[in-house]
Amino acid sequence: MKLTEEMKAKVESILARMTLEEKIGQMNQESPSIVGGFDVPFSELIEMLTDGRLSQEEFEKLMSTAKQDFHEDEIRAGLVGSVMGNDPRKANELQKIAVEESRLGIPLIIGFDVIHGLRSVFPIAIAEAGSFDDALFEETAHMAAKESRAHGISWNFAPMIDVAHDSRWGRVSEGPGEDVFLGSRFARAKIRGLQGDTSSEQNYVAACTKHYVGYGACEGGRDYNTVSMAPNQLFNTYLPTFRAAMEEGAATAMAAFNDLNGVPCTVNRYLLRDILKESFGLQGFVVSDANAIRECVIHGIAADDEDAGVQAANAGMDMDMGTHIYKDHLKKAVEDGKVSMEVIDEAVRRILRVKVWLGLFEHPYVPEDVIEAYEKGIPAGHAQLSRKAAQESVVLLKNEGGILPLDSAAKVSLVGTLADSVDEVTGAWAMGWKKEDCVTILAGMKNSGLDVAYYPCAGPEGGLNEDELEAATANGDVIVAIVGETTAMSGEASSRADLTLPGRQKEMLEKLLASGKPVVTVLMNGRPLALGWEAEHLPVLVEAWHLGIQMGNAVADVLTGAVNPSAKLASSFPAGNGQCPVYYSHPSTGRPAGKSKFTSKYLDAPAEALFPFGYGLSYTTYEYSDLKIDEKEDCLKISVRIRNTGSRAGTEIAQLYMQDVAASLVRPVKELKGYQRVFLEAGEEKEISFGLPKKEMGFYDNDGKYRLEDGLFRIYAGTSSRDVLCGEIFVSFKV
Ligand code: BGC
Repeated sequence: MKLTEEMKAKVESILARMTLEEKIGQMNQESPSIVGGFDVPFSELIEMLTDGRLSQEEFEKLMSTAKQDFHEDEIRAGLVGSVMGNDPRKANELQKIAVEESRLGIPLIIGFDVIHGLRSVFPIAIAEAGSFDDALFEETAHMAAKESRAHGISWNFAPMIDVAHDSRWGRVSEGPGEDVFLGSRFARAKIRGLQGDTSSEQNYVAACTKHYVGYGACEGGRDYNTVSMAPNQLFNTYLPTFRAAMEEGAATAMAAFNDLNGVPCTVNRYLLRDILKESFGLQGFVVSDANAIRECVIHGIAADDEDAGVQAANAGMDMDMGTHIYKDHLKKAVEDGKVSMEVIDEAVRRILRVKVWLGLFEHPYVPEDVIEAYEKGIPAGHAQLSRKAAQESVVLLKNEGGILPLDSAAKVSLVGTLADSVDEVTGAWAMGWKKEDCVTILAGMKNSGLDVAYYPCAGPEGGLNEDELEAATANGDVIVAIVGETTAMSGEASSRADLTLPGRQKEMLEKLLASGKPVVTVLMNGRPLALGWEAEHLPVLVEAWHLGIQMGNAVADVLTGAVNPSAKLASSFPAGNGQCPVYYSHPSTGRPAGKSKFTSKYLDAPAEALFPFGYGLSYTTYEYSDLKIDEKEDCLKISVRIRNTGSRAGTEIAQLYMQDVAASLVRPVKELKGYQRVFLEAGEEKEISFGLPKKEMGFYDNDGKYRLEDGLFRIYAGTSSRDVLCGEIFVSFKV
């Protein structure tokens, strides 16, 4: 977000004309609320939806008949700065009230969770991150920005850039996985995609980086849980994605629900003011997470609502999502001297900057022709991009016996309820898609021309239909089993303690396997699962995540071999539940897991991940050789040769890691420092090289100070965090 002098002057001139109430109004975000009408409270309805007592369809039907309060009177009175929603006509209606009927005509900033696409849903972030394709990250974000604007949304609550090591946490699905380097590149690309194309107001939105900060380290992987960590961990692992996003000009940030070392992020002055605003230079504003200011009372850090509001405002929380605490209490707090006018002015200045930069004053409305175009369907090219993103996100975990790609003449028995459910392709935090745009795996396989017969048999929920199972094994030449999790099993408030396949899916796989027919297992899930049994017994495993509206076509492309899979895991997979958290960049212990009993391991489970970060196979094979490390003045130049040793062309994701062998703090056993997508024809060999800037070889100490320490470094290049060539070099950082 780049502000011109003219924009800044405009902000100041508006600010100078505002009353205290109007200023506080800008700091208040509203969502439509339901007025009366149901036999049960709205919160109970949401619970019913979550626990399955109410289907999505029934819920939507109820909502369409419900009377909603859109806070028109408050908008007219200048008491609302932001609303949530994705209905373009409603957006225009509310915007018209703000612009034409409020005293100062300040437009609303309309926010929405567009995490991995709106109408054109792309793969969930943990899947897309596995493409290691920065250009793709940017392109999908740019398309999401355009679709958002077309729906009246000018502020996306994305990207979610929480590094997370524990896949029990359901929200791992929303972010770029376990690694800080990949996460930072992902963050930068997403900000460029969302905010970079300012050539027309229809092309960009304000990004909202979230959840600031440490949310991915919630204790035990339990959502909303407490977070404690040493400063070096905070600075080296959890803050860098946000630092990168701020360097790229991210307009806003959302504070996380959790406390960090005893202070909830919502009221954490050190995190919000000292680090985010002063050190990282956030130009726009910070919004609380939903209801989070009130939750400070429940956290036991504030005596009551007013106290929570005072603490939040003083800590640098600029906008209140949904509690009305600012609206109800800040005026008195200012009059009582608990919150200064400077604090209020700073918050409002930040909010106005974003509104001015977005061009909302000049172009507050979605043009009617744009609304009508989307009513007819998604624009040409959107489905293709979604399909490309999905193809690039499929990870081949195991392929024994050459079962894949499928023989085009084979009779396929497709099993698993997930294969035929439109609701399951888009994954967590996808809102705004239409059923008619979604391609299930069954539909995709039929589109590809395969001879497919479908038998639901079993899914993540419910029983096992033995008759269907018998028919499936009797009829097909090959069985393709779709197993995994429903959408509702990952995302917010969806932590799981058991990461094995839910329901009777494993039993189904055992029976399919017992038939003696070749079995291809395709996983649809929102987190790394514990696949110890599956990896040992099943010949083929394909990780397909929740891939978005084109899921079915993309999965068929990979199964038929039309596309050679190239994605790698952005998050390590455990063999069993008790291994969580498991991640490749673990700090070195004094007793690394080894043969001796007295080493860091389990008696009853491996210490290492089943499938590590960066792992993923292809229908061809690659060989690495000739690792060379050259020292230049301000960087290391690392080159390696890669040869496609198989009989198909493919794209290999080559990875560069380093280890700081002896430092003043314990450092990770390996840290990702570079990656490249390398296309190789069958038999082709290429030399690729990475530049590793010396200034990026340091780390933060416990005072948050960045240190570059001379010493020995191990440099690794290879196909995954586990399978690498290794070299060593002594590096001196002195000039
Ligand atoms: C989530 C946020 C989201 C917000 C608004 C919260 O419950 O934690 O990620 O942006 O709701 O929908």
